[in-house]
Amino acid sequence: MCGIIGYTGNRNATPILLSGLKSLEYRGYDSAGIYLPAVGVCKAVGPVENLVEHIDVKKWKGTSGIAHTRWATHGPPTEVNAHPHSDERGTVWIVHNGIIENNDALREGLLARGIEFRSDTDTEVLAKLIGIHYQSDLYKAVNQTLRLVRGTYGLVVTSHECPDTLLVASLGSPIVIGIGNKEHFVASDPSALLPYTKDVVYLEDGEIAIVKPESYQVFNKKGEESKKTSTLLDWSVNEVQKDGFDHFMLKEIHEAPAVIEQTLRGRLLPEIGRSKLGGIDSLIGDLVNIKHMTIVGCGSAYYAGLLGKYMLEECASLPVTVEISSESRCQLMREDSLNALLVVSQSGETADTLSALRRGKEAGMLTLGIVNVVGSTIAREVRAGVYNHAGPEIAVASTKAFLSQLTVFALLSLFIAREKGMSLSEGQIMAKELATLPEKASKVLEQADHIKSIAEMYSKATSMFFLGRLYHTPVAYEGALKVKEVAYVRAEGYPAGELKHGPIALLDEMVPVIALAPKDETYQKMCSSIKEVTARKAPVIAVTQQNDREVSSLSSAVIEIPETIPLLQPILSSIPLQLFAYYSGISRGLNVDRPRNLAKSVTVE
Ligand code: G6P
Repeated sequence: MCGIIGYTGNRNATPILLSGLKSLEYRGYDSAGIYLPAVGVCKAVGPVENLVEHIDVKKWKGTSGIAHTRWATHGPPTEVNAHPHSDERGTVWIVHNGIIENNDALREGLLARGIEFRSDTDTEVLAKLIGIHYQSDLYKAVNQTLRLVRGTYGLVVTSHECPDTLLVASLGSPIVIGIGNKEHFVASDPSALLPYTKDVVYLEDGEIAIVKPESYQVFNKKGEESKKTSTLLDWSVNEVQKDGFDHFMLKEIHEAPAVIEQTLRGRLLPEIGRSKLGGIDSLIGDLVNIKHMTIVGCGSAYYAGLLGKYMLEECASLPVTVEISSESRCQLMREDSLNALLVVSQSGETADTLSALRRGKEAGMLTLGIVNVVGSTIAREVRAGVYNHAGPEIAVASTKAFLSQLTVFALLSLFIAREKGMSLSEGQIMAKELATLPEKASKVLEQADHIKSIAEMYSKATSMFFLGRLYHTPVAYEGALKVKEVAYVRAEGYPAGELKHGPIALLDEMVPVIALAPKDETYQKMCSSIKEVTARKAPVIAVTQQNDREVSSLSSAVIEIPETIPLLQPILSSIPLQLFAYYSGISRGLNVDRPRNLAKSVTVE
């Protein structure tokens, strides 16, 4: 939610800031702006390329600067509301990610002092306040201002009076400092720094850093200097490029086999039917004893949690409740260390999930995480966790991270289950099947062209249903979410058995129904549901296993996927739905990587 980048060093800052903005664009693309103390400011409405068009590279030369790509909160996406914002004198310039909750009160106070505002943003209030406090010491001015502020911020401040200095602060919105050779970078997401450095330092909540070309110093809330250890990113630059694919989303869907393999790497012991999870190994005693687990997440991470519930309950006999992070307030207040809280987040920065985690910690729960971004806030704040190792996910709609989350849930279930009495042979079956998934995922991807033609066939549909039963109900929810996100089609995921209790009224020949019909215990019932659908003339697109007859004879189109054990089948059946959503978006001429109104990392509650 809003992307920030800053640079101070000895190179020209402009290309670094502009390419950084491009990689951060998934965080918001309502407007973009740049400020170089040596040149000035430039802003443009819309995606970063609009800003790039306004920049004359011959004139835009300077060795430091800040830039921002916006997801609008306070005020519409106009040029005036675009960041950077400045103080009254135009001396101090800032970029901000987050929300200042006492913005109105602070603004009124400033208006009463005769200060005028150009924009509707809370960020301008911050800029004006820093300007008022700024005499000669920018650190002091930022520190004094932030003491007046309630809310969240990832903030980078500079001034043309000390052009090579960046003041950086974080509270509830991520900020990472990239360490280079006589140069430093600042960003709201480490992926933007990959072309320049893999050596990064994350700011903790309440910390303020003074960043110069040759040095950086970090101060804690009390103003004492904190000694920081840097983290080495294990991502490669290729992972943040499209690599010959038309879109990041397509590239990331096609990474499914590699991602499942990376998630499993070094963690699976098929001979002894166990998994090994270094991050939580030391907690196995606690995990065996916990009586209940609450899983929280947002969007796709929540749906991964719904499937994780089946895995943990069935393999590890652990009762699980799954909650949407923003809805989880009351239930989390179980003051009992025998209750674990497992948070699932690709970015590790989602504000609602982070709040749920903090509430769980306060209630004394054992907190665990399934997180993709190493060193992110959630990863740092959980007691222990498992990293996905899915690599950076750039497309706004989650695909490969979702598959990786399901894979981690399978590893975690096996990990706890074997300690709690799952037999060797059951463990071996699960571990062996997990090991086959990368190859089976490749087989699913071979059907991309077939799925594309199905998506094109229904490119005029304005409404769709996704149906599943048991393990495939979360898959149906996730399939519908993908279509909403990237094809802007009203799509509902539904447990197939519930269809007849209301939603069936919406079916007719114009409403395609995607039915998930694996050959497990739900198969016959899914056949009945499909018959109910076809009786209302709605076309059925079935996702089933190879060599199926019954479902295929009832359906208008069939997508066949390889077979695995029922609990793992959703990992394979999610892939065709991701491709279907992608091609549905493409056939409607949409920008699938950057859907309207969305942001990948939602750092406001
Ligand atoms: C946003 C994204 C979704 C994602 C959700 C949770 O809504 O658009 O794709 O599933 O946030 O994100 P997280 O990083 O916590 O997994």
